[in-house]
Amino acid sequence: MTKLIFKKTYSPLSSAEIIAKEKANMDDKRFQHCVRVSETSRKLSKLNNYDEDKAALAGFVHDYAKQVPVEEYVKVIKDQDFDPDLLNWNRAIWHGIVGTYFVERDLKIRDPEILMAIRRHTTGDVEMTTLDKIVFMADFIEPGRDFPGVDEARKITYANLDKGVGYQLAHTLSFLIEQRNKVYPRTLAAYNVWSTK
Ligand SMILES: [Fe+2]
Ligand SMILES: [Fe+2]
Repeated sequence: MTKLIFKKTYSPLSSAEIIAKEKANMDDKRFQHCVRVSETSRKLSKLNNYDEDKAALAGFVHDYAKQVPVEEYVKVIKDQDFDPDLLNWNRAIWHGIVGTYFVERDLKIRDPEILMAIRRHTTGDVEMTTLDKIVFMADFIEPGRDFPGVDEARKITYANLDKGVGYQLAHTLSFLIEQRNKVYPRTLAAYNVWSTK
């Protein structure tokens, strides 16, 4: 069992309750990823003078809704008045933008900064707060990640968080184009802000 401890500042639930709910909502591989993102978020917040406990919680819950069934997402998008264009996308996009609905409902986290960081963690955005950047980058460079360029990504991010964001967006865009995958418009807009010279 993990030694994660979350204070009650951002949720009325206890640390043990948050961890149990997270565990029940995903497979073990995803859970371990969330633990590592939490730890990496803590490390990045220390380097960037951000509230470590807040970043550790945001990192831990960032993928809370990644494995929620597709039918449930479709229902929530329709019933909760999310932008209907989201129905043209998939869980890769939904678990950030719509995932906050489940985080609020199940984990009782209502802090706007934490919810925003979850919302933006897969697509990135034109404007990003320090917490947005921390979670976005921790997700990309956590120790379990292994892709060509990850060492460079880590080096850049630990030296300069903004440059890390630029690196990730360029990397993701190249990958999506290589695979002839659709690019979410917000990701393209973010790339124009963070990655170009
Ligand atoms: Fe994610
Ligand atoms: Fe993730």
